[in-house]
Parts: sequence; structure tokens; C-alpha cells
Amino acid sequence: MQHSSFDKTGALVLAAGKGTRMHSDKPKVLQRLLEEPMLAYVLRAAEPLFGDRLWTVIGHGAEQIRAAFPDREGRFILQERQLGTGHALQEAWPTLKEAGLEHVLVVNGDSPLVTGDTLRSFLEGTFSFDADLAFITLSLDDPGAFGRVVRNGGEVAAVIEAKDYDESLHGPATGEINAGVYCLKTASVEPLLARLDDDNQSGELYITDLIGLAVREGLRTLGWPGGSDLRLLGVNSPAELVRSEEFLRAELVDGWLNAGVIIHNPSCARIGPTVDIAKGAEITGPCEIYGNSRIAAGVRIDSHCRIADSSIRENAVIRSYCHIEGAKVGADCVAGPYARIRPASVMENGSHIGNFVEIKNVRLGEGAKANHLSYIGDAEVGAGSNIGAGTITCNYDGKNKHRTRIGKKAFIGSNSALVAPVSIGEGALVGAGSVITKDVPDGHLGIGRGRQKNIARKSNS
Ligand code: UD1
Ligand code: MG
Repeated sequence: MQHSSFDKTGALVLAAGKGTRMHSDKPKVLQRLLEEPMLAYVLRAAEPLFGDRLWTVIGHGAEQIRAAFPDREGRFILQERQLGTGHALQEAWPTLKEAGLEHVLVVNGDSPLVTGDTLRSFLEGTFSFDADLAFITLSLDDPGAFGRVVRNGGEVAAVIEAKDYDESLHGPATGEINAGVYCLKTASVEPLLARLDDDNQSGELYITDLIGLAVREGLRTLGWPGGSDLRLLGVNSPAELVRSEEFLRAELVDGWLNAGVIIHNPSCARIGPTVDIAKGAEITGPCEIYGNSRIAAGVRIDSHCRIADSSIRENAVIRSYCHIEGAKVGADCVAGPYARIRPASVMENGSHIGNFVEIKNVRLGEGAKANHLSYIGDAEVGAGSNIGAGTITCNYDGKNKHRTRIGKKAFIGSNSALVAPVSIGEGALVGAGSVITKDVPDGHLGIGRGRQKNIARKSNS
């Protein structure tokens, strides 16, 4: 019975609002916690429960949101004018109806920490109560700016927004608030939708007014107690954003510590929700690891590193102040201190990148080394090669990027410029200070620099 209820339940995320209190041009649901937009969290919690039966109402900054979630194209509903959360639901209703849903879960897009488990328990509670309209309530010390639950003899009577709350009418405020997660039985709630009005302090159509209307119609209305779960708090301001972010950060770091990852200075470690770290890895804060990063066993990441969307294989050592993005660092590699490893770079096993070395779109062969002060971009470096201090691959001619190919066991002398496209052969040697514009064949010495003259100085006396 419960299973079939889930099958006919869809979900709607409300994400069209501007987020005025955030004081930013960016749509609020694109504001990030641990580098991931709020909306991504809500969708990730809902997706396993609803699959394709999950829509998002967008409006303010709709194009930015579409661009950030290309996989969700076709599942957005446009609320052209943002006339309130009730209006967002009205605008989505035809789509929800067409999908033949019996129940709709509505979630505010600004509740990034809501979990799939909470949504599932809430729906189970709703179904077993056979509620026409249910919503999650929270008990706080101070109801603040949230919608306040008004009860009459213990039963829910209404939710009144903070701005509209009048103690003489609604009684003394309690700490019970509306979390912004609702489950609506479509057939029961449909007749109420047209009765929403904007006769309130904000001049908006409130979804929360459905609660008072449902009670007055004698519908089964449930305020489902979510306790004091801070995860359910909405995010409306910068302070609330970082409060939720910090809550999540601490929880994730604790999770990794308990899973067997050593994290020194844990209060300064920021690890995103989709990062994976093997037991036995060792990390020192402050440090940041985001996106789809994968950290293998035995890896050591020293302090002040920022790693995003990168994999670091077994026993690699990332010394302090490295910046690694979209890269693969092989087993037993050493990077840094102060190395920058940019997207599409692959460090094969045992290769080294030292201080003030930047690599981009480079395949650095097994055991190859570039230990000091270099820029290597759009290049292949053969296994066992050594790139001297100050080597630059000149990969850009002002219009196009070109590749540099360096064979195995080559040796590039210090302060050389390799003007791409150019190939340095296997076992070749480039003399220090060269500007190399022509290929150097295998096993040859390439040298391209002015000859030194020594001229006797005039006597100063
Ligand atoms: C809302 C609830 C409040 C609850 C709180 C929980 C209403 C009227 N109030 O208040 O009872 O305690 O959430 O966090 O719903 N949105 C649209 N279209 C609009 C307006 C808003 O899609 O026209 C979206 C926003 O993008 C946001 C969500 O709806 O994700 C909630 O809107 P917000 O303005 O944050 O409402 P709150 O004042 O937080
Ligand atoms: Mg809000």
C-alpha cells in the first residue's frame, strides 16, 4: 500500500525566488555550501525517491539555473513573475496534474540540508495518517522570521508568517515553525488553490495559507514533528548560509574521522559532500577538497591545499599550498609545496611536481620530474624525463594552443623555452637557456642560445 503511494507521488522544488535577503544578484538556490549550489543538495536528496517525477520551479535567474543543471532540462517549470510560494505551486499545478500524481511533496529550494531519509519518513507519516495536507514542523527556541504554527487545542489551525503574526489574534508565539516541506493530496488540495489571496504584509500568495484553508474545510491536516533538526532550517541570508554550511562541514569531517581518515586540525578542513576518501589517508587542515575528488589510501595532504574534482592515488604526497583541479595524480607522486595542477593534467605514478610549477593539460610520464619554477602546458612528458628549473612550454601563439612532446628520459636544461609545436626526442638533452623552435631528434643535444663571449674589461684605475 505504501509502495503504491510512493509510485504516485511526485516532488516539486520551489526555487524561483530572488532571495532578497541574500543581497546578491545570483539566484539564491545557486548560492553554494562547500562549493555546491543549494539546489544540488535538495535535488540529490529527492532524486532517489522520485526519479523523473521531480520538477523544479524557477523564475528569477532562470537561465543561470538551467545552465548550472543541464541534466535537468525538461524538468523545470517557469514561474515568470514571482508572486509567492502559493503562486509557484499554482503555476506548477498543470504539470503535476498531467503527470497523474496522487500526492505531491513540495520542498523549498532553500533547505539544502534536508535528507532523503527525512523526506521518506515524512511521506510515510503522511500516508499512514492519510493526510490531505501535511507539513514538517520544527521546534526552535525562537521562531525568528519563519512561518509560525498556530494550534488550537493541540490541533494545527494555521501557519502564519512572522510578518503577519499578531499575538492578539493568534496567541503568544511558540517556537514551533513551518520547515517549508509539504505533502499534498492533489485531489483534496486542488479546490483550495484558487482561494489563495495576497491579502498579507508581503502582498504575495503564500503556500502556507493552504494549511488554514484545509483545516477550515475539515481536511485531514498534519503537522509532522521534525524535532529541532537544524538540517531543516531554510537559508535566507549570508549568516544562515554559513550556519548551514558549517553544520554540514563539521558533520562531514566527523564522518571521515569516524571512517578512519586522519584529519589534523579538523575544524579547518572543508570537504565537499561528494568527495570520497579512503581509510588511512591523512589530511591536515586548513585545506579544501571539493567536487568529485577521490583520495586513495595512504595519501598525505598537507595544510593549505585546495583540491577539486581530482583523484589522488595511493601514497601520493601533496605538500602544502598546492592547488589541484580536474587532475589525476598517480600513486607515489609528490606535488608541491606550492604546485598548481590544472585541468586535464595526469601525473603518472611516481612523478614529481615541485615548488612554483604549473602544469595544464599535461601527461607527465612515470617517474618524470619538474621540480622547480616551470610552466608546462599542453604537453606530454615521457617517463623518467627531467624538466629543469625555469622551463616554459610556449604553447600559445596568440591565436592557437600547440603541443610539446618530450620523449622518455629526456633532460631539459634550466631556463629553456620550448616553442610549440615542438618535439624533444627520447633521451635528448636541451642545453640550459635554450629557445627551442625546431624538433630535437632522439638522443641528440639541442642547444639554441647566443654564444658567450668574454671581453676583457678596461682597467678602472
Ligand atoms: C517560507 C515559508 C515559511 C517557512 C520558511 C521555511 C511561505 C510563505 N513561507 O518562508 O512559512 O517557515 O519558508 O524555510 O512559503 N519561491 C518561489 N517563488 C516565489 C517565491 C519563493 O519559487 O514566488 C521559492 C524560493 O526560491 C524559496 C522558497 O520558495 O526556495 C521559499 O521562499 P522564501 O522566500 O525563502 O520563503 P521564506 O520567507 O523563507
Ligand atoms: Mg526561505
